[in-house]
Amino acid sequence: MKVFATGATGLVGANTVRALVAAGHQARLLVRDEAAARRYYARHGVEIEGYVGVDILDQAGLQQAMQGCDALFHAAASISLNPRLAQQTYRNNVGATKAVMGAAIAQGIRNLVYVSSYSVLFKPGLATVDETTPLAEPTEPYSRSKRDSDEYVRGLQEQGWPIQMSYPAAVVGPDDPKLSESNYAIKAFITQALMQTSAGFQCVDVRDLAQAHRFLLENPVQGDACEARYLLGGHYLSWVELRELLERLLGYRLRTPKVPPGLLRGFGAATDLAKRLIPFETPISAEAMSFITEWAPASSTRYLALSGAQFRTAEQTYGDAIRWLCASGHLTPKQAGRMAG
Ligand SMILES: NC(=O)c1ccc[n+]([C@@H]2O[C@H](COP(=O)([O-])OP(=O)(O)OC[C@H]3O[C@@H](n4cnc5c(N)ncnc54)[C@H](OP(=O)(O)O)[C@@H]3O)[C@@H](O)[C@H]2O)c1
Repeated sequence: MKVFATGATGLVGANTVRALVAAGHQARLLVRDEAAARRYYARHGVEIEGYVGVDILDQAGLQQAMQGCDALFHAAASISLNPRLAQQTYRNNVGATKAVMGAAIAQGIRNLVYVSSYSVLFKPGLATVDETTPLAEPTEPYSRSKRDSDEYVRGLQEQGWPIQMSYPAAVVGPDDPKLSESNYAIKAFITQALMQTSAGFQCVDVRDLAQAHRFLLENPVQGDACEARYLLGGHYLSWVELRELLERLLGYRLRTPKVPPGLLRGFGAATDLAKRLIPFETPISAEAMSFITEWAPASSTRYLALSGAQFRTAEQTYGDAIRWLCASGHLTPKQAGRMAG
């Protein structure tokens, strides 16, 4: 199978492309920085069929670039939290999804996988999140762009287009071409503080997610496309369980202040107000604090039952993520503790 992939210079896309090529498939990549992409894949000994530099909003150009491909994997999205880039982030992400999916359909590709996000389903007060959870109404530009992209793709599924959708929770793990959001969070838990508050943190290992995407591409939609939505949550740990696990792996005590959830949410709301007055980039927002203090565990039952797959253990995922953070210079050997080297 020859797969046209977007987002292949990011954590999710790069690991998925490597899983596809390792399984004997070919990959053609839409990239903005071809030299960086070539370096990443050469470092991993992965042969790529072709690199394409078309603008992701140029549907006609994309369609031409997809000629000869049997499948589409669309993961590209800008994860910017910069309020000054809010409109651009929204327009790029929703526009890219429309252009990429539109091009693939026009090109006659009938095996399509779109990467959505747990965040489009999350609402405070839910006990759990699964594929039947209705779309939420997030307000942050990135989350909103993912939510509206998701709604657009659902519309295509309803028209009968054979699209499968994955909904990862936070994605962590090794071999990140840069330092993506959730791997950065692990670094921050270790080097800054791991707050002890309500709810917890859920992440899926990027290697398990990559295998899930390979599985979906090898097993295109049979029957109702609207059923082809898969939560990929991985392991949910309360903040206390995460502290215990990280301290066990690292071999030393972390900074773990106890913070009441209401205080965190109030701080998030105050930061949103401040950002309205003077736009500045920060991961702190009312929405982010709600994720931290009210996360509802995502159930991955549908995907696991369909594929027969199992997720790596939380120990393996966090252990390998910390080893990679250290090997790539994001953590010092001292910070990586027992995981160094
Ligand atoms: N990481 C997570 O925790 C997480 C959780 C849930 C869902 N997701 C979803 O998974 C997907 C991949 O995320 P990730 O973590 O791999 O992100 P990432 O590491 O930041 O990578 C983003 C990828 O999208 C590409 N991209 C962004 N804007 C583009 C544009 N205008 N034109 C072409 N390419 C563009 C980037 O290319 P450049 O290298 O050129 O910037 C990069 O390849 C996203 O759709 C995200 O919403 C991620």
